[in-house]
Amino acid sequence: NEGALWGARFAGGPSAALAALSKSTHFDWVLADYDIAGSRAHATALNAAGYLTDDELSGMKSALDQLQADVNSGAFVAADSDEDVHGALERGLIERAGAELGGRLRAGRSRNDQIATLIRLYLLDHAAIIAGDVTALIDALAAQADAHPDAIMPGRTHLQHAQPVLLAHHLLAHTWPLVRDLERLADWRERARVSPYGGGALAGSTLGLDPQLVARELGLARPSENSMDGTAARDVVAEFAFIATMISINLSRLAEEIILWNTREFGFVTLDDAFSTGSSIMPQKKNPDIAELARGKAGRVLGNLTGLLATLKALPLAYNRDLQEDKEPVFDSVTTLEVLLPAFTGMVATLTFDTERMAELAPQGFSLATDVAEWLVNQGVPFRVAHEVSGSLVRACEIRGIGLEDADDALLAEVSAHLTPEVRSVLSIEGSVASRNGTGGTSPAQVAIQRKTLAERLEAL
Ligand code: ARG
Repeated sequence: NEGALWGARFAGGPSAALAALSKSTHFDWVLADYDIAGSRAHATALNAAGYLTDDELSGMKSALDQLQADVNSGAFVAADSDEDVHGALERGLIERAGAELGGRLRAGRSRNDQIATLIRLYLLDHAAIIAGDVTALIDALAAQADAHPDAIMPGRTHLQHAQPVLLAHHLLAHTWPLVRDLERLADWRERARVSPYGGGALAGSTLGLDPQLVARELGLARPSENSMDGTAARDVVAEFAFIATMISINLSRLAEEIILWNTREFGFVTLDDAFSTGSSIMPQKKNPDIAELARGKAGRVLGNLTGLLATLKALPLAYNRDLQEDKEPVFDSVTTLEVLLPAFTGMVATLTFDTERMAELAPQGFSLATDVAEWLVNQGVPFRVAHEVSGSLVRACEIRGIGLEDADDALLAEVSAHLTPEVRSVLSIEGSVASRNGTGGTSPAQVAIQRKTLAERLEAL
């Protein structure tokens, strides 16, 4: 087993079948930069504890610099014989620093504490990229809200017309879950900024190395409190996978609405040509593929989370090779979001809204019936009665095939003596929306306040 990280106690090398199963370089190579950063920090700790002279440390560091440059240029890549990124990079180091010096670096560390640290470094970097992408999407939604301060649309529950709302209110409703995702990432970050390095295989090291120094060199807040926990826990990976899932599910809910809004039947939005796709057979088609891919990828990212949790379930302490299965799912979630979010944001930023169509549909489906009931409450009628009166008016109008606003004085009086002609003051979508002026409501005044609060919450992140 020439050049491998282990082998002396074995009579022969691993079977080809085992090597094929065990190999992880095809996916863990993305951790190469972090592995080298870990080695640099570890060399510093070995020097501080007297295991490397200053000369040896500088020799080690220049060999690691050379290795990093060769990894960057592609001059150094994993060989077929390498089991994982750690083994490959130790081989690369020895090729550059010689077996004598290169062979000293592994003292006091294990791939178990290495990998547990590297996955955190990777996720911290990508969490920052994803947070930036999510912020850009929030900004695009807010910009669309700002561009349509007065537009009114049908607000729905059960996908049925419910009450008119401002388009801006609806768009901002999609920003808040994303703001909470950003807050979740910020909160997760504090738990993730911990360094298992120094925990060794599971029990710590006899060499008196300073894990604080390694943590600091890697930009992490502190070492793990427990070497077994540090090397075997993956809740920090699962929690990241959950946040990624929540982001993709939040996207999928907006995606579903955009798909509906873009149908001929709704006709609420037009997609920009640059963010829609055609059909290979139907020349007229212009499809919302970005939104559909967002909807589809939410399933994929959710699958990554559930797969990872299934891997962790009932896994005994400490490190088990099962833990190698944490990487592909979470790497896939990261890549998926980093490709999806910019496209999704571009689609949202370039949506054209047909505000006339929305306003025309907003009062349909008797969506002002609650306004009638609440107008009656303002006249001193108990809500129970008001609800009945307004419901009777809906029924009377439905039978006649007219809208609430079309009911004449005689019909109003026939339904209830409480329904004086003054009720028409609330039978406009503008009046309805303006009157929902409580905190968090859809009135233009409340939406303007909400918009300011959104900016403040993003500022505080
Ligand atoms: N490649 C492994 C992982 O991703 C780390 C190596 C640990 N291997 C071992 N035999 N202890 O978790």
